[in-house]
Amino acid sequence: MRDAGCGQVEAAWSGREVRVIGWVHRRRDLGGLFFVDLRDRTGLLQLSFGPEWSDAASLELVAALNPEDVVRATGVVAPRPEANPDMLTGEIEIRVSSLRRVSVSDPLPILVYQPPDEELPSEELRLRHRILDLRRPEMQRNLRLRHVATNAVRASLTEQGFVEIETPLLTRQTPEGARDYLVPSRVHQGRFFALPQSPQLYKQLLMCGGFDRYFQIAKCLRDEDLRADRQPEFTQIDVEMAFVEQDDVFRAAEKMFARIWRDGLERDLPVPFRRLPHAEAMERYGTDKPDLRIPWEIRDFTDALTGIGFGIFDGAAKAGGRVRGLVVPGGAALSRSRIARYDKLAQEAGARGALWLKRTSDGWSGPPAKVVGEEVARALEAEYGVRDGDLIFFVAGRDGESSPALDRLRRAAARVLGALDESGEEWLWITEFPLYDRDPDTGLPVPAQHAFTMPADPDPERLREDPLSMNAVAYDIVYNGIEFGSGSIRCHLPEVQRVILEATGLTPDEVESRFGFLLEAFRYGVPPHGGFAVGMDRVVAEMVGCASIRDVVAFPKTAAARGLLERSPSSVTPAELEELGISVTSGTGEADGTGEAGETGGTGRSGT
Ligand code: AMO
Repeated sequence: MRDAGCGQVEAAWSGREVRVIGWVHRRRDLGGLFFVDLRDRTGLLQLSFGPEWSDAASLELVAALNPEDVVRATGVVAPRPEANPDMLTGEIEIRVSSLRRVSVSDPLPILVYQPPDEELPSEELRLRHRILDLRRPEMQRNLRLRHVATNAVRASLTEQGFVEIETPLLTRQTPEGARDYLVPSRVHQGRFFALPQSPQLYKQLLMCGGFDRYFQIAKCLRDEDLRADRQPEFTQIDVEMAFVEQDDVFRAAEKMFARIWRDGLERDLPVPFRRLPHAEAMERYGTDKPDLRIPWEIRDFTDALTGIGFGIFDGAAKAGGRVRGLVVPGGAALSRSRIARYDKLAQEAGARGALWLKRTSDGWSGPPAKVVGEEVARALEAEYGVRDGDLIFFVAGRDGESSPALDRLRRAAARVLGALDESGEEWLWITEFPLYDRDPDTGLPVPAQHAFTMPADPDPERLREDPLSMNAVAYDIVYNGIEFGSGSIRCHLPEVQRVILEATGLTPDEVESRFGFLLEAFRYGVPPHGGFAVGMDRVVAEMVGCASIRDVVAFPKTAAARGLLERSPSSVTPAELEELGISVTSGTGEADGTGEAGETGGTGRSGT
């Protein structure tokens, strides 16, 4: 239907006749002369119409075109009197002799051509009318870059000897910490498949099955609260390797990321990435995903600031806590009202609040200022590097309270004070995660990552006695403060694996019925193995600079886990339910998939 894509017509073709087809992006009427920007996936092309070179029917049609009509044009390539440097084909236009309308577009619910400086429509509207939204050049670019990244993954891993293998979608529960999506079985009434939260157990079984390097671009499904960086179905680059140690896994992942960055962004990555043990990350940054583009670190002020007569600090230390703080260079410029907001932020993060101390040429100010004598001032200046114009935030209490609060303050204040180097990229491995966290409700150990991780010390006795003290050979990959992926060396010792599962509160029978197939696979010569999984959506969102992963997914769900375009989830007929042996007891009266205002939620700055 065409000689070339719109963006492929070249200046060197001047004088040649070409046929092109595409969407009417934009039309301008300059008193008898018409210009149409024609668009397809390759770009934009200017069509021009005038009585001297266009036939009468075409002149009549062009005056009546709607945005997003599909038209086919035949005309001669001609240099433009004035080139448009912003357009790939800006040096030329097509002087159209004949125009035909192939499809008519109804009036548009949302615009595809976005006049400069005009805000995008709401995300609800964009998702409801996703096919129009997908035509926008930004969405085209995002999904194309996603394709390039996916290809780079396949190329790199294939070169490294990995084999892509698909694993089942209809499976049984895989514990990754979220709720499962369940699928009722018609044949086995009352029984349910679970959709995989990840291919974790299958990839381990593949290692037992003799494939020592597996990968999959895997759809994962998790029924969890959604945010800008979470979708109920998302894509993992899922990788597993046998006969490896942590360093081998890191090397494979770094090579893969280097290839994605090279092919997708034409940038070289500095590999290997730096490494930071989990405990050190928590101590210095208050989080297991620190953004190292911010140079500030959390410091311990307990020794310097207790016993000098400030009750809150003394009280925290007496109760077994600490006084931790953050020196904010230039922070004395922060207004009282902003500091009050940071105090709130610290409270929202679970601390009692944040105290502050400013150092200016007038001396010290802030709640603890009255106890800052000469000696303390000297310590703050000499040991902690506090200078005129700086501010210190203090959070007193247990580390579990102060870490999240100081992490929030660090990120918030750095943005305001411009201490975050937006152009920088900081990659790192967080290593030596704890094996378990304590469930705040039950007090039971819950796997910090998942239950299939090798303890740093695989001693079943110690595991039984003091599981919460154990570390794991587990790691996360963090990019600019975002968790891109995680992984571990797996526990391939069946007896240790059994104890790890039992420590989470499962009885031996439950372990057998839920994970017996894995433990059995470990009985026939299991290779030591490990791997990782990376959130593809998050990686691509960062590559294109979108705050929400919804902008790199063709048909994402809203924050209320609905598809607004196809209106899912939907109700089904009583006959279908009966066939499945299911009776629904609540929530059937609602209209299918209707969107509610604000349901896209998250902090997603839309359309970038
Ligand atoms: P984990 O649960 O950490 O590990 O997931 C790995 C990566 O997947 C991404 N991710 C998500 N992305 C979008 N929406 C979600 N709801 C979502 N949940 C997770 C994140 C995360 O870092 N089986 C293990 C990996 C392993 O041990 O090999 C696993 O799934 O980027």
